[in-house]
Amino acid sequence: MAADLSTTFTGVRFANPFLLSSAPPTESESNILRAFEVGWGGVVTKTIGLHPVVNVVGPKTKFLRADADSPRLSMKKRPGAALHSSWNWELISDKTLDWWVPRLGRIKAAFPDRVLVASIMAGSGNDTELRHWQKLAVACQEQGCDALELNLSCPHMDRPDMGSNVGRDKELVSIVTKVVKEIAKIPVWAKLTPSTTDIVVEARGALLGGADAIVSSNTFTSLPLIDPETLEFEVNVDGLVSTGGLGGPAKMSQLTQAFPDKSFSGIGGISTFAHALNYFLLGCGTVQVCTAAMLDAAVGPTVIRELTNGLRQFLDANAAKGWRRVDDFRGTRRDRVVAQSKIRRPGEKDYRGGYEAEGYAQEDIATRTT
Ligand SMILES: Cc1cc2nc3c(=O)[nH]c(=O)nc-3n(C[C@H](O)[C@H](O)[C@H](O)COP(=O)(O)O)c2cc1C
Repeated sequence: MAADLSTTFTGVRFANPFLLSSAPPTESESNILRAFEVGWGGVVTKTIGLHPVVNVVGPKTKFLRADADSPRLSMKKRPGAALHSSWNWELISDKTLDWWVPRLGRIKAAFPDRVLVASIMAGSGNDTELRHWQKLAVACQEQGCDALELNLSCPHMDRPDMGSNVGRDKELVSIVTKVVKEIAKIPVWAKLTPSTTDIVVEARGALLGGADAIVSSNTFTSLPLIDPETLEFEVNVDGLVSTGGLGGPAKMSQLTQAFPDKSFSGIGGISTFAHALNYFLLGCGTVQVCTAAMLDAAVGPTVIRELTNGLRQFLDANAAKGWRRVDDFRGTRRDRVVAQSKIRRPGEKDYRGGYEAEGYAQEDIATRTT
């Protein structure tokens, strides 16, 4: 039987499981229409908010590059260097909700069979801000959006009640999700930050609030490197910098192991099907791409072609196992990630992860309490 690239995720049907994540590739109507034309199964809009947004002058994103033959990492473009990661300090969309509303409707009318997810963000901690979440959610779902993605993850917010500052607080994550779920008629996905001690804690908060899926993750909070010659940050304005977001792989296996029956959309460092396959094998039902698309004609036409061809070839190669679609192999390597002590030791020696049944650590505690 032929490979089937389509999938159903949180009740929404996708022509393929590949989405453009919320970022510059999805910041305008023309970009999103082009993304659907070149074959993306879904698009998450650049995050829409109600608070005023003005970006810094100069570049909002830079790409960190690694040399093949030296340990040097730098944003400087140079021959032979390969992409390491993106660094950005771009805020959410600087376009208003009024600007977005008619465009969302037009995009949906042009591509009714493609999945349009609205990324939204407001504050937290008081009723006015919680009502802002509801206002954004209602406006987007009225335009026919297929799902909502809550931005609980942006790493560079001055406001303590927004973005990853909310995403690090399990109670706030839960409250915001619940408030949106109260009015949502479409699935609600919670996009979390990897900059936390244990992302499972915040994911539990989102799921308790009623989230239909966890999206992991946004970028890590980080600073750009300092150039050893100029002693200036590789991104700066008037010599000044603030924290931004460094792209990289997420803590996906922790999440899918903790909540094996829940839905996950994986993000972080995906540019080929081989990368995406890792997320599917760990339990994700869809994956999202940002940096690779930004570097490929703004909306990633080559990237989506490689992703869909790669999935088709993988399914064909594994047809004998009965794998026809993503759900047939999703999560099949999730249980291979185990504690250190579960990894075989040489000579069959027993190892208990640094603990001993009777040992000096326990004796020490006993001594201190007497
Ligand atoms: C320039 C830039 C802007 C971004 N803006 C948003 C945003 O508005 N909302 C959001 O949820 N994530 C935003 N992100 C995060 C991306 O959606 C994505 O989570 C992150 O880049 C990791 O994916 P990648 O490794 O494919 O780049 C942005 C990322 C970049 C590089």
